[in-house]
Amino acid sequence: MNLTITVNNIPYELDCPASQTLLAALRDLGLFGVKFGDEHGLSGADTVLVDGRPVNAGSLLAAQAEGHEILTVEGLGSHPDQGWRKTSGLHPIQQAFVETGAIQCGYCTPAQILAAKALLDRNPTPTEAEVRAAISGVLCRCTGYVKPVEAILRAAAASRHAGHDGSAEEPGWSTADWPAGGPPSPGFLPDRPDSLAGVMTRPRVIAAPQTQAWAVVGKPEKKVDAIKLVQGKPAYAADMELRGLLYAQVLRSPHAHAIIRSIDTSAAKALPGVAAVLTWMDLPRVVFSTAGQSDPIPGPLDTFSLDQKVRFVGDRVAFVAAETLAIAKQALRLIKVQYEPLEAILHPEDAMKPGAIRIHDEPEYVDFAESDAARNLAAEIRIDIGDVEKGFAEADFVFEGTYRVPRVQQASIEPHVAVTYWDEDDRLVIRTSTQVPFHVRRMLAPVLGLPVKRIRVIKPRIGGGFGGKQEVLMEDVPAHLTIATGRPVVYEYSREEEFTAARSRHPMTLIMKTGVKRDGTMTANEMRVLSDTGAYGCHALTVTGNTGHKAMALYVGDGTYRKSPNIRFHADVVYTNTPPTGAFRGYGVPQGYWAVERHMEKIARALSQDAIAFRLKNAIRAGEYHPFSTAWNEGREPRPEVIQTVGLEMCVAQGKAAMDWDSKYGNRSWRQGNGKGSSSPAGRPSASSAIRKGIGVAMVMQGTAIPYLDMGAATVKMNDDGSFNLMLGATDLGTGSDTVIAQMVAEVLGVPLDDVITYSSDTDFTPFDKGAYASSTTYISGAAAVKAAEQAAARIRVRAARMLRLADTEAAAIRLAGRHAHAPDGRSVSLAEVALETLHHTDQEQIMGIGSYVSPVSPPPFAAQFAEVSVDTETGAVTVDKLVMAVDSGVIVNPLTASGQIEGGMTQALGYAVCEEMRYDQAGSAIERDFDRYHIFRADEMPVLETIFVETFEPSHPFGVKAAAEIPMDGVAPAVGNAVLDAVGVNIDENPVTPEKVWRALRALHA
Ligand code: FES
Repeated sequence: MNLTITVNNIPYELDCPASQTLLAALRDLGLFGVKFGDEHGLSGADTVLVDGRPVNAGSLLAAQAEGHEILTVEGLGSHPDQGWRKTSGLHPIQQAFVETGAIQCGYCTPAQILAAKALLDRNPTPTEAEVRAAISGVLCRCTGYVKPVEAILRAAAASRHAGHDGSAEEPGWSTADWPAGGPPSPGFLPDRPDSLAGVMTRPRVIAAPQTQAWAVVGKPEKKVDAIKLVQGKPAYAADMELRGLLYAQVLRSPHAHAIIRSIDTSAAKALPGVAAVLTWMDLPRVVFSTAGQSDPIPGPLDTFSLDQKVRFVGDRVAFVAAETLAIAKQALRLIKVQYEPLEAILHPEDAMKPGAIRIHDEPEYVDFAESDAARNLAAEIRIDIGDVEKGFAEADFVFEGTYRVPRVQQASIEPHVAVTYWDEDDRLVIRTSTQVPFHVRRMLAPVLGLPVKRIRVIKPRIGGGFGGKQEVLMEDVPAHLTIATGRPVVYEYSREEEFTAARSRHPMTLIMKTGVKRDGTMTANEMRVLSDTGAYGCHALTVTGNTGHKAMALYVGDGTYRKSPNIRFHADVVYTNTPPTGAFRGYGVPQGYWAVERHMEKIARALSQDAIAFRLKNAIRAGEYHPFSTAWNEGREPRPEVIQTVGLEMCVAQGKAAMDWDSKYGNRSWRQGNGKGSSSPAGRPSASSAIRKGIGVAMVMQGTAIPYLDMGAATVKMNDDGSFNLMLGATDLGTGSDTVIAQMVAEVLGVPLDDVITYSSDTDFTPFDKGAYASSTTYISGAAAVKAAEQAAARIRVRAARMLRLADTEAAAIRLAGRHAHAPDGRSVSLAEVALETLHHTDQEQIMGIGSYVSPVSPPPFAAQFAEVSVDTETGAVTVDKLVMAVDSGVIVNPLTASGQIEGGMTQALGYAVCEEMRYDQAGSAIERDFDRYHIFRADEMPVLETIFVETFEPSHPFGVKAAAEIPMDGVAPAVGNAVLDAVGVNIDENPVTPEKVWRALRALHA
């Protein structure tokens, strides 16, 4: 049909099917700021303004938009400087999002900006609660909403001060005066405007003294990709146009376990517009693992692109490519499949029972370490440190407990998506939203029958990953279809596929047994785990191994036990006929800390000891061996490692102060809602007589990369004007790694961040990097980039010395700062002059550095995480009022991006604590398939979040950094569980802590 729609004040004549959505029509116009997040508009990523009101473009037909004014983010503002043409610049809301660090992956950003514009147009002076309500329809999985809310309030203030030119003075505070250091307490937070009550917009940083002299590192620099993301530029994998593009779809199994007896694809192939239909009979049979890890994959090889057997509801049966998405979906319905259903194993407890059906009986199956497909055992882990039985024998008390954690979803707002095509050299290009581009290339080469050198993987911006994209999950689908048809193919997961056929966090049952002396000295600690890998063994060994490696390493005991800890970690990771589990932020560790920290709380209370003092008495300290480093290394040779920096005690002190812990813990009056200082976010109802308050803590540690394995590399190239290109193999998922690595490079080269142009990553043009996982990017890839920058800097010094008529031997004394090379005698030459001299004038050379780095250690970050809750004793409802995280992540390169990581991680962990869970019916079919049944926190449901950085200087890194990305996932759930115990005296040992569980426990308690 023909219609006219007006978008961003421009009329467009469209010839489109009557069923085409406005979302598809706008993207066909090249307006890629409008994003697909789900089929039902529940993510809000597809928000546009129609006549000034927010509307889900995916829920509206293009025809319905005729006669209306549509605004997308592209119609708001643009980069102010377009060469000789100047523009009016970014809209104040866009500008505020850039300046406040409100963007992480940026996938939700255009929608949030438009929702904010609709609000500010009708209400220029909104309250925080009104801002939260206005963006509550746009889900963000990255930020915790702290900085987006701040950005909108800031934009409102800027508009009030200066109209809409964005030139207003900062309303009361500025990021420019962020000090390099600060006193230990109370930090250096500037006063915040009243309108931000409840929004902890700036983290507190307790600065390491080494950081004081730095100009770029440690500063809240704007993200290097922020300006393009607020404009909705075509930055993501699906944001491209290709002539002849086909759309892929996958037919998925309705059975949990079945053999495919026959497939009739004739009707589907005959459908006009269908270009290819592929089944298991059409593809070479190549076994592989989808786990995006370095070679050799530390897990079994048990997966085929397509197989004759299906092993979970949602497993692949056939691939289709067609001219349109609608035709591809129609073709799926025309494929006739005869299945022979098999007995299915839906519960991990049944997997290893005698006589259980075998899920993997394919002859190509390749074992890894202790996996045993005949017993449905994907991995077996047995770690014994010290003499555990002796430790139990020496204990005065032995405490045992069983804990359970559910399967949960990464739920990145951008689904998995890949585009494949042959380039002009007959090389296969895979443009994909992945955390591991180099692993995609290496692992898919044999699957596709291509040598590695004929594959190029491009990783554009990623709309969130959280471990879900550390998987070579679906790139093979469009790749096979491109090989079959010769044409470009795009394949994008639906939200339902994300819930039914992507990866998730391993559900586990964890049994704790702990020996303690009467004085609280721990003598032995044991964890036994049953972990469910689902139908395939991707990440089975490594995720569950980390459950013990990180969560059981924190408490070593005291006195002689500290010198020789007694720790046992045994785990069975079993196959079931459920969707495979995999990597998810925290990588097995949140599961472990749910058990460990709930258990520690119970022990401290049973011994009538202070819960915090008991933990610190037994916690690991600087200068001690990481106990697991002597025993386990993800299936490789263990290498003993001494932990150099532990800021845990300061984290506890800072967190306690932020929570007002001492006045609340054990305070009966406060618990009943009568005490001072009860935290309650704006808009929350006040306490009633049925409400009880509680406060809880959890202490946690993580890791920073995998030692002797994780490798990153970078190159730094000097340009004619003294700027630099930084080429990174590392993958920025929205974490800000491109920015913080560029900050380190800028610091070494003595230039502002603006002078470092960062590009990541493309397997043809950037050096190798193992990818973004294991909290390693700032530490590993950052160290590699520093090495590259130091090489370039050394050469700059030599050339500057010659220009200043100094001897080469005097070059080392030249200091790089302020875009200049400064001689000790005060003379200087600009880097632009050095660049022109070396590229054009004398003894020409390209100044360039390349660095790669593998770490011999994995220095752990530490944190104390606190929660304050209100529990309704009549309904069991738990409201989390406040979360505080005091974290030792080493030196913080960028407090804005790092605090965004902590806030987002705490929010994701909050879902794990109270509401997120993936469940299956008796046939193994998923119950949660969308953002309606699977609830993730909205902007208007958030507690107060507060982040405190306690800096230590990690000596193994040039800038003293440790990891920050994963650790916020670890302690929120047990802190909430412990706070519920504090509030109402019941132990919920299976998370999430739902109203029903609390209500039942309260009834049992008072029966
Ligand atoms: S920044 Fe909001 S979804 Fe990533």
